[in-house]
Amino acid sequence: MAVDKAGTSPGEKAYLGPERLLAKKKEYLIPCVYHFYQNPPQIVRGAGKHLYDSDGREYLDFFAGVSVVNCGHCHPEIVEALCEQARTLQHTTTVYLTQPMMDLAERLAQLTPGNLKRSFFCSSGTEANETAVLLSKLATGKSEFLSLRNGLHGRTQLTMSLTGMAFWRTDPTPVGGITFVPSAYCYRCAFGKTYPNCDVACAREVENVIRTSTSGQVAALIAEPIQGNGGIITPPPEYFPRVREILDKFGILLIIDEVQTGFGRTGRWFAIEHWGVQPDIMTMAKALANGQPVGAVIATEEVAMAYTRPGASTLGGNPVTATTALATLDVLEKYDLVGNAARLGPYLRERLEQVASRHRLTGDVRGIGLMQGVELVKDKDNPAREPAPEATDAVLERLKDRGILIGKNGFSRNVLAFQPPLVIDRDDVDRLVTDLDEVLAEVERL
Ligand SMILES: Cc1ncc(COP(=O)(O)O)c(C=O)c1O
Repeated sequence: MAVDKAGTSPGEKAYLGPERLLAKKKEYLIPCVYHFYQNPPQIVRGAGKHLYDSDGREYLDFFAGVSVVNCGHCHPEIVEALCEQARTLQHTTTVYLTQPMMDLAERLAQLTPGNLKRSFFCSSGTEANETAVLLSKLATGKSEFLSLRNGLHGRTQLTMSLTGMAFWRTDPTPVGGITFVPSAYCYRCAFGKTYPNCDVACAREVENVIRTSTSGQVAALIAEPIQGNGGIITPPPEYFPRVREILDKFGILLIIDEVQTGFGRTGRWFAIEHWGVQPDIMTMAKALANGQPVGAVIATEEVAMAYTRPGASTLGGNPVTATTALATLDVLEKYDLVGNAARLGPYLRERLEQVASRHRLTGDVRGIGLMQGVELVKDKDNPAREPAPEATDAVLERLKDRGILIGKNGFSRNVLAFQPPLVIDRDDVDRLVTDLDEVLAEVERL
């Protein structure tokens, strides 16, 4: 249907509008569900890199629903595959044989790095991480875990307990047997050191932690290659190779959580490829089906073969989601969107650095490909590097009012996140940075 503006097509639904929606939300949702913006628009439609609100306003989307719609909103080829499958066979569950799930498993074995081969499908990143933890216990016969500070792995009791940010650790009775190691957060180094003179102390600390703070019976270390929610924290090149060496010495598996970084976001199919390290288990969700609920865990033959007792997920790998995921992978390949992220990422980074050099608020710029973050501090010349969450909110609000949606994350919610659909071009980057430059100047004057 050719529609230029939301709400203008014949037979279009009447929209409630933000005020009435907020009233409903306040009355009927559990209050843990937060939203961005003091004045949030009601989003009613998406097409490619754009979103549209109930007043017909167009927004350039630079957050992709938290790194989900890598192929752009409502990509026609993906939507067509989804609808066709929904009309043909929607659900059987895994006790019946259907083809899309098997095809998807085969495709993931081909796409993922190293010897990752066997998959299990579920409906979210949280579930994928739960499954990864179970798999590593079964494969090693051990039950302790290492996780990184500033990481985020999900919303259940276990995955919250693996999460290294108090902000997201709501469960008052966390699971035991999980020990945290410092993340490779160079801007706020846990050891007060400066890269590269640090000799990657954060990686070396993994060995100290294993020796001093665990029973030695550690099944796995779980890590995001780039910590998304933690604030686009991007480890230096030596980090994962060093960590892998240490884990191998102690017979500990490496679980890589690619839920936010996977499927082209960083200019490679999977972010861990930038470090040349082979995980034993990898988890995926978000962008795998471009917005359909999906989760997957893939493991090496050796690890996967330990899980033989019955395991089922009612909706995991259902024909509609699996077909949508296959169409998503086709679109990523056909339009070379991974290549686009690899080419445009350095340009976005360069332009963000230019902008950052002009402002007092912009403490650090980091990331890889089309996953970039700018950490805002009250005054970057002050060594205290005091986080500036209010300024972060003001930048988001003003960019939204100019028709650009970006994200925010970080331990203190003070990191601007730039994770657009991979279909953007240089003009979109230029528009973003021009507006960002002006908005930062406005916010600095507040
Ligand atoms: C790295 C990472 N792992 C896991 C999750 C949880 O995924 P889901 O919300 O699909 O359960 C998230 C969600 O943002 C994430 O960013």
